[in-house]
Amino acid sequence: MKRTGLDERQFTKAFSKAEIQASVQKLADLVSADYAGKNLVLVGVLKGVLPFMADFVRALSIDPEIEFVRLVHQARDRTSMGTVTIVKDIQLDLRGKHVLIVEEIIDSGRTLKFLYERLKSAEPASIEIATLFDKPRRRVVEDLPVRYVGIEVGDPFLVGYGLDLEEKCRNLSDIYALKYPN
Ligand code: IMP
Ligand code: MG
Repeated sequence: MKRTGLDERQFTKAFSKAEIQASVQKLADLVSADYAGKNLVLVGVLKGVLPFMADFVRALSIDPEIEFVRLVHQARDRTSMGTVTIVKDIQLDLRGKHVLIVEEIIDSGRTLKFLYERLKSAEPASIEIATLFDKPRRRVVEDLPVRYVGIEVGDPFLVGYGLDLEEKCRNLSDIYALKYPN
């Protein structure tokens, strides 16, 4: 058994590996049906999307292209847009292709709003967003069209399955929630 390294007094298991995998499969089935016969490009947002993307692409019954971006968001405070910087961009020409942005979790939506607008300006045939987890109550941006949502959550800070605690714990197969957010 892999040790979590998490303090059990602070963290409690929120989603098991089986629950996560069921949700991944459900999303993959929807996307496979919607994009059958289409030129699909998945654009994953590093680094947190790594485990989700790996499971998601293997659960699809269609064969998409796979790209990644890495964005760094410096938030000044919770309400400002802050600055989003692209650390790793895609090389591909998106014109005429169907783009699906893949995220593991959406919180304020600021990072994704930036990416969505930027990729949209590359004139793809369509552009949609898929996320494994969504925290809709935390949203600060308007009009972020999130088409595919695996699991809606409230406010908890989650760790595991790509979600990091100060860059660690991304490799856990289960997801843990912070018990007492401060
Ligand atoms: P947003 O721009 O506020 O939507 O930030 C989204 C990003 O913040 C996600 O892609 C994650 O990398 C990170 N994030 C949001 N919520 C959590 C969480 O509960 N645990 C770990 N990382 C999170
Ligand atoms: Mg992310």
